[in-house]
Amino acid sequence: MKALVINQYGGPEQLRIQETSIPDRGKGELLVRIHAAGVNPVDFKIRNGSMKFITGSKFPRILGGDIAGVVEQADPKSPYRPGDKVFAMLTLKGGGYAEFAAVKENQVCRIPEGLGMADAASMPLAALTAFQAFKKGGDIKPGDKVLINGASGGVGSFAVQIAKAQEAYVTAVCSTGNTEFVQSLGADQVIDYTTEDFTKKRTRYKKVFDAVAKSSFYKCRKILEKDGNYITTVPNKGLFFFKALNFTRSKKAGFIMVKPEGSDLKIISDYYKEGKLRPHVSKIFPLEDGAEAHELLETERVRGKLVLSVIP
Ligand SMILES: NC(=O)c1ccc[n+]([C@@H]2O[C@H](COP(=O)([O-])OP(=O)(O)OC[C@H]3O[C@@H](n4cnc5c(N)ncnc54)[C@H](OP(=O)(O)O)[C@@H]3O)[C@@H](O)[C@H]2O)c1
Repeated sequence: MKALVINQYGGPEQLRIQETSIPDRGKGELLVRIHAAGVNPVDFKIRNGSMKFITGSKFPRILGGDIAGVVEQADPKSPYRPGDKVFAMLTLKGGGYAEFAAVKENQVCRIPEGLGMADAASMPLAALTAFQAFKKGGDIKPGDKVLINGASGGVGSFAVQIAKAQEAYVTAVCSTGNTEFVQSLGADQVIDYTTEDFTKKRTRYKKVFDAVAKSSFYKCRKILEKDGNYITTVPNKGLFFFKALNFTRSKKAGFIMVKPEGSDLKIISDYYKEGKLRPHVSKIFPLEDGAEAHELLETERVRGKLVLSVIP
C-alpha cells in the first residue's frame, strides 16, 4: 500500500511516499481502508524526534493518529461489517497517513450520517482530548463557568462546543482574528489575548482548560473557583510540581493524556447528530503534500483542523 513515512527524525522534508505492506489485522481489530487522515501537533512532534524517548528508533514509521474510512475486513462476530464507515483515533504508534490501518474495535466509532470523510478524520484525537480533559476533576455541571485558552485551534474549537453541549458558560480565549470564529462555535464570552490578560480578570472559573498549554497553573490559580481545576495539554516541570501538591489545596492542577476510546467518540458523534458540534477543517491536502500540512500546523496559527486526503 501507499503510505507517507519517515525514515529518520527531522523536518517536514523527511515525509516521503513509500510502498509498504498492508498491516496485519489482529483478533478484535478491523482493517480499515482510509479515505482521510487528520493531522495533529503530535505528528510533527514525533516527526522531529521530540518524542523519541517514547517512539524509539524503528523506521520506516507511518505517522498519523486520526483516520476516517471504510471497514475492509472484520472478525466474523464483530459488530462491524465490511463497507461500514468508521472513524478512529489510533495509538501513538500512528499509521494514519496510509491507505490501510488495523484498528482495535474498541477505538472505532461509526461515522454519523451526513459527516463527510475529511470532517470525520479531523475529529477523533482533538475532540477526545477536549472531552476527556473536561472529565478530569469531575464532569461539567450546567451553568459551570469554563474558560478555554487556545479556543480557535484543533483541540480548542472542539472544547468550546463540547463545553457548550454540556451546558457550561464558556469563555474562549484567542487572538483578534479568531474572535468571530470562536463566537460562531457558541462561546458566551471571548477574551482577545492580544489586548487582555485573562489570568488577571476578576471572574472565577470552575475549569480552566489550557488547550494550547500557553499559560500555567501558577498564573491561572487566581481565576479558579475554590474547588476549580486547571488542565493543560502539555505538562511541564511547574505543572508536575503543583500537581504533586494538589492534596494541600482545593484548587487542582492536572493534565490530559488522551486515550483512543471508541465509547467517548460515540458521545462526541452523538453531539454531532444533535447539531451541537461541527468540525472546522481549514484545509485539505493530498496525502503526498503532508509535508506542507506539517509546515502549516507548526506555525501554531491554524484555525480548526488540517486533513490529508487519501482517497480524493
Ligand atoms: N496531552 C494530550 O493528550 C494532547 C492531545 C492533543 C493535543 N495536545 C497538545 O495540545 C496542543 C494544542 O493542540 P491543537 O491541536 O489544538 O493545536 P493547534 O490546532 O495547532 O493550535 C493552533 C491554535 O493555537 C492558538 N494559539 C497559538 N498561540 C496561542 C496563545 N499564545 N494563546 C492562545 N492561543 C494560541 C492559535 O490561535 P490564535 O491564532 O488565535 O492565537 C491557533 O488557532 C499541542 O501542543 C498538542 O501537541 C496534547
